[in-house]
Amino acid sequence: MFILDANAQHELAHYLTEKQWLSPEDAIISLSKAGQGNMNYVLRVTTNQGSFIIKQSRGYVEKYPQIKAPEKRVLTEAAFYAKIGTVERIKKRMPELLGLDVSNNIMILEDLGQANDFNSLYDLNKVVSENEISVLVSYLNVLHQQFSKVKADDELDNLEMRKLNYEHIFNYPFLEDNGFDLDTIQEGLQTLAIQYKKDAFLKEKIELLGEFYMTKGHYLLHGDYYPGSWLQTTDGIKIIDPEFCYYGLREFDLGVFIAHLYLSNQSQNIIDKVKLDYYDFQDLDGSILNGFIGVEIMRRLIGLAQLPLQSNLNDKKRLLELAYKLITN
Ligand SMILES: Nc1ncnc2c1ncn2[C@@H]1O[C@H](COP(=O)(O)OP(=O)(O)OP(=O)(O)O)[C@@H](O)[C@H]1O
Ligand SMILES: [Mg+2]
Repeated sequence: MFILDANAQHELAHYLTEKQWLSPEDAIISLSKAGQGNMNYVLRVTTNQGSFIIKQSRGYVEKYPQIKAPEKRVLTEAAFYAKIGTVERIKKRMPELLGLDVSNNIMILEDLGQANDFNSLYDLNKVVSENEISVLVSYLNVLHQQFSKVKADDELDNLEMRKLNYEHIFNYPFLEDNGFDLDTIQEGLQTLAIQYKKDAFLKEKIELLGEFYMTKGHYLLHGDYYPGSWLQTTDGIKIIDPEFCYYGLREFDLGVFIAHLYLSNQSQNIIDKVKLDYYDFQDLDGSILNGFIGVEIMRRLIGLAQLPLQSNLNDKKRLLELAYKLITN
């Protein structure tokens, strides 16, 4: 098994040459961390002739090695890239898949440049522009429409990744004794969270939403449509990291998207624009959509997958109350 390692440039050069991803005339100039990621090992390889991104998935979460994760997940991500290659409007919004090594769980991607992702939205002083919303919604419109199926089947079912996500969205955040002291994130957060963890009615609703998440659907979803998956490049907004993709309910992609607009304190006007620009909005199930929005807000505040949020305790209290209403109404 070849293990990707930023400190082993020589071994990587040898590996890449063997795979014919590096020509004998070319040489690696530098290796660096591609950006802020938690799940996988992702490097930018700069050579004499250009640069590319190399991503390896391992049997655990890179940031939390004690958490197991499906080792072959990068293969599903690559399958998504291969599939969307047929639709220009989606393809041009994503990096190109340049290579795949199935036995070592390694994928090579086009380098979109040292772009910032949209995580700076969590500083809470940035406004997403109407133009940016148009692009972000249009990506989902095309993805959901162009790859829909009349009959659900097993293609890209990504079940193991969904089970992992299920655990961290619908279960773990709501366990009273999950061993995660929220006061280490912010003093007082544990007390704020406890009332939700003890609320049987809320938990019943969340369990139902979890079942909807686990249900096969007719629509190809990105599966992790949040600011960390959006890059601001010199060639406009690009979308990356579809490792949680699957065929499911459109409400999930849209729900996660809208949840992060609330979390980053965007105006109601911007949130309404998402709903207005989404083609089939009237066909969606409003209560499932609101439920997914609410659960995503809650789990980002009281679950393990924390965001670099600048909100104070009072902001979080308000967001949790909003999320509660969205889930239970
Ligand atoms: N094709 C690309 N071009 C330029 N930068 C990239 C590219 N792919 C990834 N990056 C950078 O590397 C970072 C990590 O990549 P990615 O999100 O794919 O990894 P991950 O480990 O799956 O992350 P996460 O923990 O958010 O799931 C991105 O946030 C981005 O900054
Ligand atoms: Mg990822």
